[in-house]
This record gives sequence, C-alpha cells and structure tokens, in this order.
Amino acid sequence: MRAWWQEAVLYEVYCKSFYDSNGDGIGDLPGVLQKLPVLKELGIDCIWFTPIYASPQVDNGYDVSDYRAIDPAYGTMEDFRMVLERAHALGIRVVMDQVLNHTSDEHFWFRESRKSKDNPYRNYYIWQPPKEDGSEPNNWGSYFREGRGSAWEFDEATGEYYLHQYSVKMPDLNWEYPPLREEICDMLRFWADLGVDGFRLDVFTRLKKPEGFPDTKKAPDVLLDRNGFVVDKTMCTNVPGIHEIIHEMHEKVFGPCGVYTVGEGAGVNARNALSYTEKSRKELDTVYHFELAGRSKPNMRAEDFRRVEKAWFEVQKNGGWETQHFSNHDSPRQVSVYGAEGTYRKASARLLAVLLLTTPGTPILYQGEEIGMVNAAFGRIEDYNDRYTVGDYRSMLEKGADPGKALRLLTPKSRDNARTPYQWDGSAHAGFTEGTPWLKVNPSYPEINLEKDRKDPSGVFRGYQELLRLRKDHPVILDGELAFYLEDDPAIIAYTRENADETLLVLANLSGEEAPLSLPAELCMKAWKLLFAGRPECSGNFREKKTLAPWESEVYLLSDK
Ligand code: GLC
Ligand code: CA
Repeated sequence: MRAWWQEAVLYEVYCKSFYDSNGDGIGDLPGVLQKLPVLKELGIDCIWFTPIYASPQVDNGYDVSDYRAIDPAYGTMEDFRMVLERAHALGIRVVMDQVLNHTSDEHFWFRESRKSKDNPYRNYYIWQPPKEDGSEPNNWGSYFREGRGSAWEFDEATGEYYLHQYSVKMPDLNWEYPPLREEICDMLRFWADLGVDGFRLDVFTRLKKPEGFPDTKKAPDVLLDRNGFVVDKTMCTNVPGIHEIIHEMHEKVFGPCGVYTVGEGAGVNARNALSYTEKSRKELDTVYHFELAGRSKPNMRAEDFRRVEKAWFEVQKNGGWETQHFSNHDSPRQVSVYGAEGTYRKASARLLAVLLLTTPGTPILYQGEEIGMVNAAFGRIEDYNDRYTVGDYRSMLEKGADPGKALRLLTPKSRDNARTPYQWDGSAHAGFTEGTPWLKVNPSYPEINLEKDRKDPSGVFRGYQELLRLRKDHPVILDGELAFYLEDDPAIIAYTRENADETLLVLANLSGEEAPLSLPAELCMKAWKLLFAGRPECSGNFREKKTLAPWESEVYLLSDK
C-alpha cells in the first residue's frame, strides 16, 4: 500500500504573491480560497504553504514572531480554517512550512531571552560571551551578510552575542535545551490537531550546531565575505546529533499525529538521504534536495539529470522516497535557467514538466511554473526585496565592484525572480491586485499569463494538466523501474519506466538545437503509442524519428504489453 504522499503532486503556494483579494498589494488566504478551483482544475493533490504565520516579514515569513497565529496581512485563523476545509472538500491536502531553526527577534521568546541571563527563556536561543578582546565568538558569517557580516550579534542588555545563521533579526533557536524541544512539539501538534496533513521543515539539517562553535577553516569568498567572517554552508549542516532531534519529533509528533514530512535538505544528497528517510529510522518521510536544481545551479545537462536521477532512484529502492522539483521560492524560474526564454519558452516549459512528472518520487511544483513564468530582471537594486540579493550587492560594492555589473551578476540568481506576483491575466498588475503589488510584477505578463495560456491547447497549463492526469492513469509512473538509454548523449534524455503491467518511454531534447536520435533496436522495434507530446507539431511517426527538434519531448506507452 502506498501512502497518499507517494502518489501526490505537491504545489507550493507563496501566499504573498499568489492572489490579493483586498487590494492591499499582498496575496492573502481569501485570495487562495478564491483560486482553489484553478488548482483543482490543474490536478494537483496537495498545497504546501510557505510560512503564513505572524511575522515582521524580514524574510517574507521565514522570520516567525508567533507560530500559532496567521499574519494579519494574509487573513485570520478563520480564513485559514476555511481554506483548509475547502481544500479538503476538493480532495487537496495541505502541508505547512515549519521554520524551526530560528524565529523572528520579535518573537515573545526572544524578547524575553535577551532581557537577562536568568530569564526563563534565556536558553531558548544561543548566547555566547565575547572573546577576550570583545569580538565575536567565532568567524562564522551570516547568510544574509548584514552589518559586519558576522553570524553573531552583540546584545547590549546582557553583554553577550546571539547566533543568527540568517538575518540579525532571525536568532537561531537552541535545540540543546529540552524545554524548547517540548515547546516546538506542542506547537507542531497544534497544527496537526487543526487538521493539516503535513509539514515542510525549513533548513532542518541546520538545527544542531557543532560543539564549542569552532571557527570555520573555509577560505573566504573574496567578493562576498566581509571583515573576515566566512559563510560556510557546511558548518551547521548535518552535525552529529541532528538525527536524534528529528527522531524525537517523529516519536512525539509526526508518528502519533500521522502527518507527512518533507525536509528542506540543504546538505542532503543521495549518499546521506537514507539516514534521514529510511523508514526504520523514524525521522522524515522525504527530503527535498538541491543536487539537480537550486539557486546556484546555472544549468542542467542531460548527464547531470541522468546521474542525479539514477542516484536518487537507488535511495528510493533502498527504503527512502524521493522528491522532484526544478524550482521553488528560493530559486530563479526554471524555464529561464534550465529551459529557454523566447521562441522555445512554451516547448521547454512543457519538456521540464515531462521530466518532473514522469520520474520517480513525489513532484513538487512551484506556483507559476504551470504557465511558464520567467525571470524578471529589475534595473534597480531598490526594487529587490530578497535578502540574499541585497546583502550580496552591498558586499560586492564594498569590495569595489561596479554597481551595474554587480546587479547584472546577482539578478539571474535572485530569489525575487520566483517571487514576483502570479500572472493571472493581461490586465493591470497581471490581475494579481487592484492596489500596488508588494513586489514588482514581471513585465512579461501581457504575454505570459494564466488566462491566455489556459486557452492554448498546447499551452503550458494544459501540458501540466495532461501530465498530471497521466500520473493517475498510469501507476507505472509511481512504481516503475527507471532505466536510461543513450547514456552518452549530450542533449537527449531517454528513459523507460516499467512495471509488470506497463512500460513508458520518455524522450526529451534538453537543448535548443535539433539533435540526432538513434535509439537501440530493442526500443525501436516496439510498438509505442504516443501519450503526450511536448511539441505536438513535431511528434510525427515514432518509427521514422531520426532527430528530436529543439526542446522536443514525448511520452510513449508500449501498446502491446
Ligand atoms: C529556507 C527557505 C528560505 C529562507 C531560509 C531561512 O531556505 O526556503 O526562503 O530564507 O530557509 O529561513
Ligand atoms: Ca491582500
């Protein structure tokens, strides 16, 4: 028996940019409620909400000031209940983001914690005395590179530093302290009791810090690191002891409450994934890795795809379960990075959908990819909201970089590319809001929007819809073997999915050039029936196929099995 999440396709909703129902420029829960029928029409099974809790919005909700309240900008708890109820009625489950590495500095716990060394909440956070010369406890740099660039911030009231891996306004929680763990478990139970179906665990690999907070030995990034503070992504990642923390949450909450878990796996790869996801470990159901796609992955070659998919299929065969994604709220738009803007935008968007939705595991879509949204390059740093972009820009300028050049280097990687408002139609602000959007709308909206795309039978939306339906009709996508062909081909990705009942063949040309196709005889000889064509105008007759057109993709079914 498969669990629901092994059959499901998740859809990530970045509420702030999804749909604004009241004209204040900020997407909200009543907006999501209105648009649920579109998600139903698309055919997804589960929504993952990025954090919609009370927050000063320094990092768009990843800085939580109250884990048990909905941010008033998004609505009320009643609005949330309505979304949950309506989604469930439509057969759509709901997964909530849980940010357990840090809180906002405006959280009650931190406001108390900083008051005095003997405050009952003192140990909820990580405090360290200054070094003898008064300087920071070590050389760790913070991801957002604010202030002096350190991951430690001095607090006058008690004369100590607190740790913040991200923003100064996002202090790290102290997972060594049992009462904190209890508090978090209670909070997770609160959401499970409310009826949510699962949790996405933000940066879960970083909850445990290395003992004694040793300096990192990593060499500084000459362009970015400041004042000798070095950002070392491995420092607080997968530190021994992390498994006990996750296992404890499993025993106290995930298991008893029967909720699904997907961890955001910074530092998780196919080699260590089973340590978190193998069933008998009782930690997480799935993780979400960055071996193929991510903020710092500038391209994806056919060979990368084969290597990563093969390695993760092994994880699955050995008792784990994989997930698939090409983009999220932290990455650029997948079409812009792994596909092509311009002439082949639609074709490449549909090709990526084919790969995403016919490989093993649980696919996770990000809002807007189903209409082929692309990156947005704003011309001015003032228009950027992403803390990474703003922080990196400042660092580069301090090191003497030319402002125009810095912007050109940073914008293709900016997380704001994915965060611009959803493009609903061709009206003002893409139909997202009647007010002024909190982040600029991508100027591409008259061309790229849901209303227009949905009318196109070979559009991106219809492509996703057809493929999502295929997954329901052909369980081989869920449980079939995965075998690659043409393994040396620089552009063509070819694989089969096979179980006792069915065989599917997937072909995709991951390039903007026509590519010669010479499949092995064992495949050519068979009678393949076309199930899906990424570029219907090119699909032609299978037996006569000698090439694949730019960004062409197809899914075939063996018809005589
Ligand atoms: C995760 C989130 C990201 C956030 C960071 C800190 O990577 O996906 O948006 O900035 O954690 O919470
Ligand atoms: Ca609003």
